[in-house]
Amino acid sequence: MKVAVIGASGQLGSDLVKAFEGEAFPLTHRDLDIEDPESLKVLNKLKPEVVINTAAYVRVDDAEVEAEKAFQVNAIGALNVAKACNEIEAVNVYISTDYVFDGAKGEPYEEDDVPNPINVYGLSKYAGEILTRNYSEKYYVIRVASLYGKAGARGKGGNFVDYMIQRAKNGEEIKVVNDMFMSSTYTKDVSRMLKRFLDLDLAIKPAFGVYHIVNEGYCNWYNFTKEIFNISGWDAKIQIMPIKSSELKKLARRPIFSALKNKKLDDLGLRMRNWKEALKDYLMEEKMVDEWMGRGLKARG
Ligand SMILES: NC(=O)c1ccc[n+]([C@@H]2O[C@H](COP(=O)([O-])OP(=O)(O)OC[C@H]3O[C@@H](n4cnc5c(N)ncnc54)[C@H](OP(=O)(O)O)[C@@H]3O)[C@@H](O)[C@H]2O)c1
Repeated sequence: MKVAVIGASGQLGSDLVKAFEGEAFPLTHRDLDIEDPESLKVLNKLKPEVVINTAAYVRVDDAEVEAEKAFQVNAIGALNVAKACNEIEAVNVYISTDYVFDGAKGEPYEEDDVPNPINVYGLSKYAGEILTRNYSEKYYVIRVASLYGKAGARGKGGNFVDYMIQRAKNGEEIKVVNDMFMSSTYTKDVSRMLKRFLDLDLAIKPAFGVYHIVNEGYCNWYNFTKEIFNISGWDAKIQIMPIKSSELKKLARRPIFSALKNKKLDDLGLRMRNWKEALKDYLMEEKMVDEWMGRGLKARG
């Protein structure tokens, strides 16, 4: 299966290229700009069977003041990709977010729950979902959440796990919110699952539509941070202060509970592993604690 990966140097895109090794056409921002339909013509030459669009404007707070730019990439860009996919009869895979939900449900969101974004980023991604659904002949919307991966989010200048370890290494104070719940997710796991999912397509054809792909279980950001240092064996030495999200002066509102449930994946018999196992794997694999703290990893459990 030939797969074009748009946003190939990004955090998720780079792991997708690895997961689809031998089948992937990596397309970076330099190769094409989804805002420009002309540049998408490169797809006509490559003729992939599947196009995975990971390109996005991901800076949630900046989107509040650059709403036009966020919509240009996340919504109009998605429309351009949908039209380009139709021309070559490719399946269009749009990567979306837990931030399409408002958080009021208070328990994990399933694919059929009704979105109600509360910030510009979420709204622009939801617009991208709708345009993908209504303009694509063949599509999947894949919602992911709270990503971390080897490359770090290019748009955000890194990921949360690396940032916390860096702060600890610098001896900086660590304050983390304990009233916002989410599904932290390893980009390697999403990439491998998406490969299995799309391979299934040939055999049993999952219906086109929306799917959630996140690591199982959920936690708040404070517990997530505790687990980072617990796995590294540094939990006793690092003081993490729980704070309320209202204490953070952020420009964008964020859903207080945005955990996702992989309901439709489960129905297909596909299971993601638990977030703690995924986090441990990430820390071990990247040998981060080892490198950054200058000590051997003392993995627990
Ligand atoms: N990070 C998260 O926690 C999170 C959570 C939920 C959902 N998501 C979604 O997951 C996807 C991947 O996120 P990520 O963390 O991998 O972000 P990322 O590292 O910032 O990757 C996005 C990639 O898209 C490229 N890009 C940006 N604008 C483009 C354009 N107009 N045309 C072509 N390429 C463009 C960027 O290239 P340059 O950097 O060179 O511009 C970058 O390589 C996004 O759709 C995001 O909305 C992310």
